[in-house]
Amino acid sequence: MKFNKIIINNVRNIEQAILYPSSKFNFIFGPNGSGKTSILESLYYFGHARSFRSHIANRMIRQEQNMMTLFSELISSDELSITVGIQRDMAQNCKIHIQKQAAKNTAELATLLPIILINPDSFNLLSGGSKPRRALIDWGLFHVEHRYHSLWLKLQRCLKQRNMALKQRLPFEQISIWDEEFCVIAEEVDFARKHYCEQLYPKFKTIIDEVLPNNQVEYHYSRGWSKDKELKALLTDSYHQDTERGYSFYGPQRADLVLKTGSLPLLDFLSRGQQKAVVCALHIAQAELLHEQAKKESIFLLDDLPSELGMQYRNYLINSLNRLNAQVYLTSIEKEGLYEALVDKTVKMFHVEQGVLKEVDSTYIPKILQNANF
Ligand SMILES: Nc1ncnc2c1ncn2[C@@H]1O[C@H](COP(=O)(O)OP(=O)(O)OP(=O)(O)O)[C@@H](O)[C@H]1O
Ligand SMILES: [Mg+2]
Repeated sequence: MKFNKIIINNVRNIEQAILYPSSKFNFIFGPNGSGKTSILESLYYFGHARSFRSHIANRMIRQEQNMMTLFSELISSDELSITVGIQRDMAQNCKIHIQKQAAKNTAELATLLPIILINPDSFNLLSGGSKPRRALIDWGLFHVEHRYHSLWLKLQRCLKQRNMALKQRLPFEQISIWDEEFCVIAEEVDFARKHYCEQLYPKFKTIIDEVLPNNQVEYHYSRGWSKDKELKALLTDSYHQDTERGYSFYGPQRADLVLKTGSLPLLDFLSRGQQKAVVCALHIAQAELLHEQAKKESIFLLDDLPSELGMQYRNYLINSLNRLNAQVYLTSIEKEGLYEALVDKTVKMFHVEQGVLKEVDSTYIPKILQNANF
């Protein structure tokens, strides 16, 4: 599904913005503090019912207002149209309607809209702990594997119960009741994640070999417990340490995607710009796999791209997204930074200033380029 019409009301400095986006590229430009990220934040909200900026949802609601509302009309490749309405007030009530029916959960939204966000924070994917890399694998599985979400929820519930029992320092016999179920779910989650990472790998590798031909960038999936030991035995052996820690050490909650260049950790070897290219390669590979396996098109939100990626990687990313037929929203302070990459693409341009969004004529991009000196 792609956005066909979007109405944003009372989000940050935006009183109201109405967009009729292009099904391909949408370029939003304007000065610092004008509302560019707030627009992407609103689009992201349609797919997640939460912000990527703040865990406190009320911060998104425009000051001195009691609620924000978001409305969108989505359209599928076979012209099927679906409406989504979201209303969130200062008392934390959130109402989500899909086709005017109350949604059962946020997963319903996420299923409709596979949104990939690339912003300055996403470039920490490689430098921080394993959580965002695990989330990347789970995101892919959520969209390609129908029953994965319920399996993932079961894992979270079971882990929570086991950790609670550990915190209460319950005797081993009582904790091991959870272990049986935990191990069964862990094996299933591991199987799915391993399979996903194997399928993603050739796509990732093709992109990487093109973008970073001189660096042997590779990844392997690590399941969160030793390759040659049964999880059940590890849980039994680590009972005392786990009760000391108050949480379960071994299990799929520690799974990771370990990236390397040759024998060296990626961070020690690649420049910051090259690391960013690796992050983009992972996301492009995911969108390719999603398109191939589930016939779903991803929506890419690229915040402040020119300041994050150099011309060469930026052009590669944009050309790949063009080939993938993804709907893309890009922001930048300056128009110039993206002209060259977008010149031969289907693009709509929007200018935003002090929270007011206006579509502008994009046909003059080629004319400007004729006189420009690149
Ligand atoms: N709850 C709120 N109510 C009203 N205004 C807000 C609220 N939260 C943030 N703002 C303001 O909204 C404006 C838009 O912020 P936003 O981050 O979208 O700008 P931007 O165009 O992405 O800027 P930059 O180019 O610096 O990234 C900022 O001036 C900010 O102070
Ligand atoms: Mg911004």
